[in-house]
Amino acid sequence: MQSANMTVSHKKAKVLCVIVTLNIFICVLMGLKWNFGTGQSRQQKVRIPSQRFWHQRFLSESFWNKEQQLLDVVHNPVMNSALSSNSTSLLPGWINDICEPDYRVPAQISDYNTLPQRFRDFLLHMHCRTYPMLINQPHICQENPFLLLVVKSLIPHFDRRQAIRQTWGHAGILANRTVVTVFLLGSTLLVESFPDLQGMLVHEGNFHKDLLQWDYRDTFFNLTLKEVLFLEWFSQHCPQAQYVLKGDDDVFVNTLRVLDFLDGLSEFKAKDLFIGDVISDAGPQRDKRLKYFIPESVFVGEYPPYAGGGGYLLSGELALRLYNVSQEVVLYPIDDVYTGMCLKKLGLAPEKHSGFRTFDIEEKFRRNPCIYRGLMLVHNRTPQDMLKLWPWIVRPELDCQ
Ligand SMILES: *[C@@H]1O[C@H](CO)[C@@H](O)[C@H](O)[C@H]1NC(C)=O
Ligand SMILES: *[C@@H]1O[C@H](CO)[C@@H](O)[C@H](O)[C@H]1NC(C)=O
Ligand SMILES: *[C@@H]1O[C@H](CO)[C@@H](O)[C@H](O)[C@H]1NC(C)=O
Ligand SMILES: *[C@@H]1O[C@H](CO)[C@@H](O)[C@H](O)[C@H]1NC(C)=O
Repeated sequence: MQSANMTVSHKKAKVLCVIVTLNIFICVLMGLKWNFGTGQSRQQKVRIPSQRFWHQRFLSESFWNKEQQLLDVVHNPVMNSALSSNSTSLLPGWINDICEPDYRVPAQISDYNTLPQRFRDFLLHMHCRTYPMLINQPHICQENPFLLLVVKSLIPHFDRRQAIRQTWGHAGILANRTVVTVFLLGSTLLVESFPDLQGMLVHEGNFHKDLLQWDYRDTFFNLTLKEVLFLEWFSQHCPQAQYVLKGDDDVFVNTLRVLDFLDGLSEFKAKDLFIGDVISDAGPQRDKRLKYFIPESVFVGEYPPYAGGGGYLLSGELALRLYNVSQEVVLYPIDDVYTGMCLKKLGLAPEKHSGFRTFDIEEKFRRNPCIYRGLMLVHNRTPQDMLKLWPWIVRPELDCQ
């Protein structure tokens, strides 16, 4: 009994001894580390901030960036409730969707008077997103389209629209899928020295029932407006469409290849689908002579990755989310960059797909029927080209192995 007890307490003592030794060893190590660390660390164990501890943002000098910063504050729930009631005068016009020219803008841009006219037009009206529809097709999506083809067009392009209807944009059933086509138009009545084609357009609209027209000046810098007006229309009149392909009226689309691609998509991939000819690491052009010139007084910063506006493919579900988020992004004069900005705000990025050729294919392949079988979209093709190319896509006897 006694000796057994002895051995037990002996063992206990041994274990205790080992633990104590280990602890001392660890303490020594910690102490060494402490001493090797920065000398200050001992005095600054707890730091209580004496001032606001988050980063104070300064309002940008560039107009678009400044407007976006303010819009971010409005849509930030924390910051929003912290805003004092008397700071509402800070909030710019989009709160009220100001659709009169906003004459507070010129005073906020140092070189406003030297900017090209298209900038002045854009800046004066960038707070307005509400324009009445002149032609609508509210029931065009009754059949729950699998694929909605959305073509950015201009009123005088009657022949392009007709070629699209006769070829890749033919609405109906294709490969056992419902395809619906719409053309997006503004107004040219407000564009200087332009013949009045509105009457012809109304005829076309009644005949084909595939035109959507809004009452705004249809110019290059208003393409972003065309985009957000379409997204709004989509969320109201076609939210059940599964996929949307958006393109210009001078692209050729291999609709069969697009449908085939979509049929093979996993559900996971389909939800956030946004593919096209993606441009990364771009930024604003500072050369005044270029079409895409943007002055520093309007925008500074990099562009997010974006799909060239010639054509891209996305899920209907994502188009609905884009509409929502677009209300939190200040209109930017370049439409495809704007869509990239909205995607970024959703935490997404467009994916590059080699089937989208917005910069065309090599000259030597342009007359090779089999090449078109593998492509989804190619820029640019005339109406005559489209009529020639479409049979190459659908002709079953062509052997492309
Ligand atoms: C109104 O704004 C000023 C500064 O812009 C601020 O000092 C003041 O506290 C604000 N008043 C209220 C009631 O929030
Ligand atoms: C055609 O599509 C429908 C539903 O979209 C499907 O149920 C049917 O199986 C398809 N038929 C063929 C031949 O693929
Ligand atoms: C965009 O459309 C509006 C409405 O018609 C017009 O006032 C404005 O000048 C247009 N902007 C550009 C850049 O053409
Ligand atoms: C868009 O916003 C509305 C209103 O906030 C919300 O009810 C709807 O679910 C949103 N849609 C998507 C697709 O996020």
